[in-house]
Amino acid sequence: MRLFIFALCAIFARTVTAAAKDTGYAFPENFKFGVATASYQIEGAWNEHGKGPNVWDTLTHRIPPFTDDASTGDIACDAYHKTVQDVQILKSMGVNFYRFSLSWSRLLPRGFSNYVNPEGVQYYNDLINELLANDITPIVTIFHWDTPQNLEELGGWPNPKMADFFVDYARVVFDAFGDRVKEWLTFNEPNQICQQGYATGGMAPAHNTKEMGGYWCTHTVLIAHGRAYRMYQEEFKSKQGGRVGITIDNQWNEPLTNSTEDKEAAERANIMNFGWYANAIFSKNGDYPSILRERVDQFSEEEGFTRSRLPYFTQEEIEMIRGSHDFFGLNHYTSRVVTNDDGDQGRPSHEHDVGTRGEIDPKWEPSAADWLYVVPWGLRKTLEWIKENYDNPEVIITENGYADKHDAPLRDCERVKYYNLYLEEVLKAIHESNCNVTAYTAWSFMDNFEWQRGYTQRYGLYHVDFEDPERPRTPKMSAHVFANIIKTKRIDWDFTPKEFEKCEWVQIEVKSEL
Ligand code: BGC
Repeated sequence: MRLFIFALCAIFARTVTAAAKDTGYAFPENFKFGVATASYQIEGAWNEHGKGPNVWDTLTHRIPPFTDDASTGDIACDAYHKTVQDVQILKSMGVNFYRFSLSWSRLLPRGFSNYVNPEGVQYYNDLINELLANDITPIVTIFHWDTPQNLEELGGWPNPKMADFFVDYARVVFDAFGDRVKEWLTFNEPNQICQQGYATGGMAPAHNTKEMGGYWCTHTVLIAHGRAYRMYQEEFKSKQGGRVGITIDNQWNEPLTNSTEDKEAAERANIMNFGWYANAIFSKNGDYPSILRERVDQFSEEEGFTRSRLPYFTQEEIEMIRGSHDFFGLNHYTSRVVTNDDGDQGRPSHEHDVGTRGEIDPKWEPSAADWLYVVPWGLRKTLEWIKENYDNPEVIITENGYADKHDAPLRDCERVKYYNLYLEEVLKAIHESNCNVTAYTAWSFMDNFEWQRGYTQRYGLYHVDFEDPERPRTPKMSAHVFANIIKTKRIDWDFTPKEFEKCEWVQIEVKSEL
């Protein structure tokens, strides 16, 4: 009987799918698809072949444990030992590019460029060469949160000297890999590096300097980005011909109601959270958004500080940072509905400076991550906002993805649904709003170390068995679907809300070579 129902469901699902509506849009011929990872989240080999410790090594080795499951990234996906195998998997998915990050302390064990670890260079050379031999373009993030511990001892990102150390590091990597790597991202998500790292304590190095940590850190990161970009132009661009961008994340802020107050609050949240990082680089005038400058200056004075908690750029720095991009790297996962909130709780802090409160619409579907709700149109609105505010720059979506629990099934229908719905919004942004989006990256290639959540949440298209010393990778349903989207440049898997709800369509037999 059960078999019969299964067969019936399969027929039903096939029939309905064939009849399902199609937006009619396809991704442009030259649109590129890829998947992403980050060094600390996948590599493991935390102390092998001369690698120095970074802030995540330190934090995860601390007692009591920092992560929910007391785990570390000591082994993670063991990607350090699986270069050939992983590239073969990427090839079988048909990705155009692979976005990964470099471990600073694997290359420069103490953070400084006076000693470059040859085995670290060898590892990334092997990976880059293997990718290119398989026709996969490397997109390299220079820094994805794993600050060398030695540099953290000197104060980490709130220390302006970090910009010097970062530029030295960037020069080493352009020099070592730039003959083959043509797409660079300086930083992944300054927001998380700075707010979580130095203001709220959710990420390494887990400092809680909420009045100023985030502002000082961001100031250094923006200067470091601008200087690294200029250095590439002066020293490498003519011989290497690559492109340099930065990845900024945005949680879209939608007004809670139609009231003017809520509309202003939502716009203020977009400007003061997203624009805080993007304005200096992408806006015509450069510098921090004026509303951020005015509010933080005013609140700092009221709070009795002798100077603004938001540092000032010199005119020279404003010009150096303005326009320091060849494309906009966007990470986007979710949204909030926003209302005004000028209560004094938590003052002084960036949250109070912004003066808004973000809420979850009860209609939104949750994921396994408490912050990640499924709100596909938020991605389109973010893309339109970038177009309006920053003169329609080329956007590479460098991350987008869905979290499920550690015991989630391989038939990960919720993830498939998420990708279908969000990619449909990307199609609309391209075809209806003329947003200049040229590439899309799924987060993540495989399940990995999810920072404070350890291995309790999964984001991968590939399942990784963390109990098995071999860390086997197995394609999930979403890997098959994503491979199909890459191949056809269309979202063929179009389901009605009812089918989504029941997940009936997972009965469909997947014909894929993975
Ligand atoms: C980060 C990833 C992280 C993902 C899911 C992004 O903000 O870049 O490293 O795993 O979100 O939390």
